[in-house]
This record gives sequence, structure tokens and C-alpha cells, in this order.
Amino acid sequence: MKNPARFVGCFIALTFVATPLFAATPRTLDGSNNNLSNVTWGQTNTQEIRLTPVDYLDGISTIRTDIHGRPNAREVSTAVFSQLTNQQFLDENNLSEMTWAWGQFVDHDIDFTDGGMESHDITIPATDPAFALDSDGIINAGRKAFFPGSGTSAANPRQFSNFITTWLDGSVVYGSDAIRANALRTNGGTGAKLRTHEFGDPGTDKDNLLPTAQDLINAGVTVPSMAMAGMPRMGDDVRFIAGDVRGNENTAILALHTLMVREHNRIVDLLTIADPGLSDDDKYQLSRKVVGAEIQAVTYNEYLPAIGVPIDTSGGYDPAADPTIPVEFSGGIFRMGHTSINQQALRLNNDLSPHTEGPITLEDTLFNPQELFDTAGIEPFLLGLISNVQEATNAKMAPGLRDGLFQFGPTTMINDLAAIDIERGRDLGLGDYNEVRQAFGLPPVTDFADITSDVSLQTILSSLYGGDVNDIDLWVGMLAEDHLTGVSSGSTVQAGMMDQFERLALGDRFFYEWDPDLAMIESLYGISALDKLADIILANSDIPASSITNADNVFFAQPVPEPSTLALGVIGLFALAGYRRKRT
Ligand code: HEM
Repeated sequence: MKNPARFVGCFIALTFVATPLFAATPRTLDGSNNNLSNVTWGQTNTQEIRLTPVDYLDGISTIRTDIHGRPNAREVSTAVFSQLTNQQFLDENNLSEMTWAWGQFVDHDIDFTDGGMESHDITIPATDPAFALDSDGIINAGRKAFFPGSGTSAANPRQFSNFITTWLDGSVVYGSDAIRANALRTNGGTGAKLRTHEFGDPGTDKDNLLPTAQDLINAGVTVPSMAMAGMPRMGDDVRFIAGDVRGNENTAILALHTLMVREHNRIVDLLTIADPGLSDDDKYQLSRKVVGAEIQAVTYNEYLPAIGVPIDTSGGYDPAADPTIPVEFSGGIFRMGHTSINQQALRLNNDLSPHTEGPITLEDTLFNPQELFDTAGIEPFLLGLISNVQEATNAKMAPGLRDGLFQFGPTTMINDLAAIDIERGRDLGLGDYNEVRQAFGLPPVTDFADITSDVSLQTILSSLYGGDVNDIDLWVGMLAEDHLTGVSSGSTVQAGMMDQFERLALGDRFFYEWDPDLAMIESLYGISALDKLADIILANSDIPASSITNADNVFFAQPVPEPSTLALGVIGLFALAGYRRKRT
């Protein structure tokens, strides 16, 4: 029997069929009370752990920057990570762009290290090729807020906290607190469905988008905060409201948010048909259970295997498994996705021909929700994501993130995500690359040639880090590594991902493989959680099944018919030119 717990749960549920929800145990919104002996494990605003000794100049809080023994973060970024607009370093295993997008969606479900008010800048060296473009010579990398009470002595150095629930529990869709969750629900926070922006054919959930801030204002609901609210492209009429504040960060993640909200509402409709007597709250909670299970199933059945991160859950629930995020994961390992993003995103029609809006540059996908209205929905983005091969997870970053991050007009300053990632590791006081390797049970490297077979990269790294392999920034070292065979990363990223995703699964009392409520929902209402992202896309969009030839695992790119690819370049150039004109 593959999963005995589900059958036990099914039996218990059937004996109480008259009052359905009594048997279901909804997750708390803040993640508490999952582990019954350690009730705060996975709860919002709890401290992240450290796997390596803290690395501050004074052992307490002082950041090790270029004036404190590490190379300048922008200098490292430029010397190692720079990539030209027309350069591509594609993933060698044919991973689709859906891979980075789902990775970010998952990240926004499990960690958001609290931001702070303490300013901190990275100096742009005067020799930087883009120095003249920048108006102030700095990249603002403000320090993260540290955990209250920490940072007082070497025995009590700075620690950091996770603002959202750690569990992979759908908090990215529903929120991690009651105020956001209720604002997202219909009927003043008591409805079964999640709010949407009515779009396309009235009354069909397949066309709906996320609610905008204006929709909530019109409904008299206090609008939950969203990152970059009020910025040029983020007015009330276009800014979408999601379960996570970073929902508008790019069009890919917005498409996934929208998809899963549609999925919630689809399940509610099925529940209503299955049992008209269910209360709105029952339907909300049951659907939330299904959607949370689907996010886990897609992650563990498709996403993690695709990137070469095998997780063994055969031992079942382990109450001793602590899910807490290490700073080495939030500040290093999972940021590997920042290098996998393409400079240009595809947008395709349902027949896989190029969309008239054309492809879109990375800069224009960022905090630009209007694009979802312009393309009349999420389908062109979803099809692009499953059809385009993503950039390799390596020591190269697309210019849209490395120079042009969050530039909403002509570039007047450099904003560099690679430099910020490097400096963030230092801000969090992460152990160096070799220490982190050893914390994951990997052998330390003793030479730059142990990291990469690329001789030129060895030379650059050695020169930046003064020939010392024992003081390399984690994010830099792990991305410079040669990839393991058949795996889209090196051994450090793989080990860090395995560590985190194993604890997240085994320590979750409600993990989809053993949560009895899912068997109950299946047996009482005939609704089973979908375990393939392709099926969720097909159920909630007007994309025909014939346009998803990689339905078995959409994290491997499907081929786009040749004529489309050829036409794409031409149409894309025209579309981008027109698009730029629209914006100036
Ligand atoms: C266009 C896509 C993306 C953009 C614009 C973006 C941007 C950012 C920014 C600005 C930060 C905060 C940096 C800091 O101040 O420290 C961040 C954090 C982070 N990003 Fe991304 N990101 C993107 C995609 C991804 C992907 C694909 C992944 C993983 C697969 C990822 C994982 C992370 C993680 C783990 C953090 C730290 C989260 C925390 O605070 O705990 N991001 N990202």
C-alpha cells in the first residue's frame, strides 16, 4: 500500500460523513501548531537557524565588506557574473523557464527574511564599465532587520527571522496572517472563493486575474501591502493583491499566483456541486487543503526531480524533523534561481504561434502587472514559460537583473541583484563557501580547480579572493561550481536544496503524501488533488491539451514549432520597438 495514512484517514472520515469538516484539520494561517511538540516550528516571524559559525568582523554584527577583507561585491559581480544582452548560457538539461518561475513561487511560500531600515551601500568602483551611467556611485543594499534582542555580543550575534510561514503550505496564495487572508476572500473575508478581477467573459474563472488594489478599495476592503505599491507601474488600478507581498515582482510569478487562485475557485465550484450543504468556510478550508497539496505535489514530483534534487519521503512523517530555514538557504542556496532567468521571455498564442505583443524583455516583466491586461491574460506567459529553455544555474546573470534591476525608465543608476546577493550573504553573516559545503557533509575544496574546470574562471576567482579558497562568498562559490552529471547545479546547491526540502516534507504533519484529509476529500466529494502542473494549467485556462506536449513534466521545455521561432525574432523586434514607444 503506497500510503497507508491516507486510507486510515479515509476510514475515519467515512464514519463521520454527516458533519464533514469536523474530521478535517485546516492548517493554521501562521503555520503554528503543525508540530504538536514544537508548536512554533514553521510559524511566521520565527528565527532562521545557522548551519555555520557566524561570520561578522566583530563576531556580532559588523559586515565584512570590501573594506573589511572581502572583494567589492559589484567588482565580483562584474568580473564573474556579467552577461551581455545577446548572450545566452542555456540549461544543459533542457529545463524550461517554468523551472525558475516555480522555484520563485515556492520560495515566496517558504521564506521572506524581514527587511530593515538600516542603510548600507555597495560602492560602484570607478573602473566599472557602467560607472558613467550611474548617478550616485552606489548600489543601495540596506541591511536586513535582525531578530529582536540579538546582535548584542559575540555570544549573541545578529540573527534573522522569516516573516512568512516556513511550511510549503500555500501561504503564497492565501497569505500568512488573518488580515491578508481575509482581504483575499470574498464576502468580507468569509466567502468560500478568493477574490478575482473579473476579466474576459463574465462569470468564467478561466479568465479571471488577481484582484487589483482598486477592486479591494471598491469593495471597502483595506488593501494589504504589496511591494513597490505606488511606484510608476504599480498604481491601484493595475497592482494585483496576492498572498505574498512580492506577487507583482515579475509577470511569470504573477501568472502562477493567478493560476492557483483560479484553481482554488475551481475546487470550490466542485465542492458546491458535490455537497450543496457545505458552508462557505468548509469549502474555503477544503479547497485550501487541495491547493496546498497540489503545490507540494508539483514541487516534489516534478520540480525537484527536474533540477536533480531527489527527496526520499518513504519513511513518512518525522516529528523530529525541524523545517526551519537556515540563513545559508535564504541568503545563498535558493538564490541560485537568480541566474536562471532569461533576458527575454516568450509569449505565445494558444496554438504556440508568437503573441502579437511579442516577447518581452526582463526589465519590462518586473513590477509591471499591466502586461497581464495587455496580453489578455496569463496564457501567453504560461505557454512561453513551458516552451523556452531557461538560462543555466551558473555564474552568469542576465543584464536585466545585473544592471537594470527595477529600473522603471531610462537607466540613471545601476541596481545589481548579483552584487546584492553577495553583499546580503555578508550582511547575514553567512559562513564562507567551504564552511557551508562541510555543513552539508561535502568535502571542502582545496583549490580553485576543485570548484570549476573553467580555467579562466579559476583565475578570476583566485585573483578576487587573494588566492584563498577558504574565504569565498557562498553565493559566488556555489554558482561557479561545475554541474553534477544530469543535475542543473553543482554539489553545494544540490545538497542545500536536499537538506531544506527534505526537512520541509518530513517535518510537515500535513504533507500531501500522508495528510488524511486529502483521502477524505477524495472519498466524500470525489475531488483529488492534481499532481501535475500541466493538469492545473489545463483545468484553469483555455490552453488546449494539444499545445502542451510536455504535460508529463512542464519543467522540461517543449519544442515550439519552427515557424513560430523564426517569426518570433521579427515580430518581437517590432513589438518591442512599439512597446518602448508606448512607454516613453
Ligand atoms: C525576475 C525574477 C526575480 C527577481 C526580480 C528577484 C528579485 C529578488 C530580490 C530583489 C530579492 C531581495 C534581495 C535582497 O535584498 O537581499 C530576492 C530575494 C530572494 N530571491 Fe529572488 N528574484 C527573482 C527570482 C528568483 C528565483 C527564480 C528564485 C529561486 C528559484 C529566487 C529566490 C530568492 C530567494 C531565496 C530570496 C531571499 C528570500 C528571503 O528574503 O528569504 N528569486 N529576489
